[in-house]
Amino acid sequence: MIYLDTVASYPLLPEVKQSLSEAFDSLYANSASSHLLGEQVWDEINKVREQLADEIGAYPSEIIFTSGATESNNIAFKSLLLGGEISKDKKHIVTTQIEHKCVFAICDYLESLGYEITYVKPNKDGIINVDSITKAIRADTALVSVMHVNNELGTINPISDIGQACFDAGVLFHSDAAQSFKKVSIDIDDLNVDVMSFSAHKIGGPKGIGAIYIRDLRKRHLMPVIHGAGQEDGLRGGTVAAPLIAGFGKAIEVFPKYYKEFTLKNVKHYLLELLSEHKVPYEINGKATNLPSCISLTLPSTDTSLLIREYENYYCLAQGSACSSKEIEASHVLTALGLTREKAERTLRLSFPLDLKFSDLDKLVAAIKKATQ
Ligand SMILES: Cc1ncc(COP(=O)(O)O)c(C=O)c1O
Repeated sequence: MIYLDTVASYPLLPEVKQSLSEAFDSLYANSASSHLLGEQVWDEINKVREQLADEIGAYPSEIIFTSGATESNNIAFKSLLLGGEISKDKKHIVTTQIEHKCVFAICDYLESLGYEITYVKPNKDGIINVDSITKAIRADTALVSVMHVNNELGTINPISDIGQACFDAGVLFHSDAAQSFKKVSIDIDDLNVDVMSFSAHKIGGPKGIGAIYIRDLRKRHLMPVIHGAGQEDGLRGGTVAAPLIAGFGKAIEVFPKYYKEFTLKNVKHYLLELLSEHKVPYEINGKATNLPSCISLTLPSTDTSLLIREYENYYCLAQGSACSSKEIEASHVLTALGLTREKAERTLRLSFPLDLKFSDLDKLVAAIKKATQ
């Protein structure tokens, strides 16, 4: 089986698997316990907290471990807006039409509480322009949220400029970095972000663990997303998942080496050359700067449904984001770019595993050719 859906989740890296296995054996105590084993677990958790903080230029006290980017995004919106951090008169949020679906669900909930949401449109290349954000900010804007890298197009948004615009307007700025972390360089000061979301399974770590960075966390009035016994600065109750955090730390350490080797292979170039050689018409969605590991391709003359059906035992292929690929509706990202429903249905989101072989792409293109008129 050739897995072409790493944007949805990467397979566990071997070093991470090893570290998880060791951590499940050794880090079984509760980090809140005051005995020796509990303290050891507490120390291990805080080592990874420091590691993540160092990676992004933050203080360890500004990092909270969560179950993943969905939860981090929930904290970013709900804990900040409902916790008394921002004046209750400010009930306007700016986000974009191409965010992960969890952001839309959070915004729907906030709308039910009286918030008003502006969904900014991307440009034709799938990028969120700083001007469009500046125009959307109002006197009553409480929060701006723009993802760093889009999970269907692999496009990289100008986060630093958007962050600067938010800073100038005195508005808090959150960015979802689930797809960018360890693939694009992140320094929270350079990027001018106040809040950022992370996920381990997008870099070969375990599922069920992630983090959120909140600038000056301890000085803020935040509503807990899970009320509990005070863990994670009282923001996120529940026994802290030490073994998963150890696995997250290992993924942060080893993923870049694999990703660098993968990037050097330039598989996207190889794939596009091959499609041209086989005279398969294609259009790339999101043409500006994007990740080497992901491409959104519309194949107007290819019966993509037939391709996916016929080859389901050979390839894991995605048409939109994982959360929507089982739904019939066209991807919201593609429709935001102006693609017709028919074109959106003829689009593949290919995201490559780190050990992809060129021969895998030879076979894929042969299959695409067969499904092309
Ligand atoms: C941009 C983006 N945000 C959030 C998520 C959700 O991440 P998690 O699975 O860690 O909750 C994903 C992954 O599906 C994503 O791609």
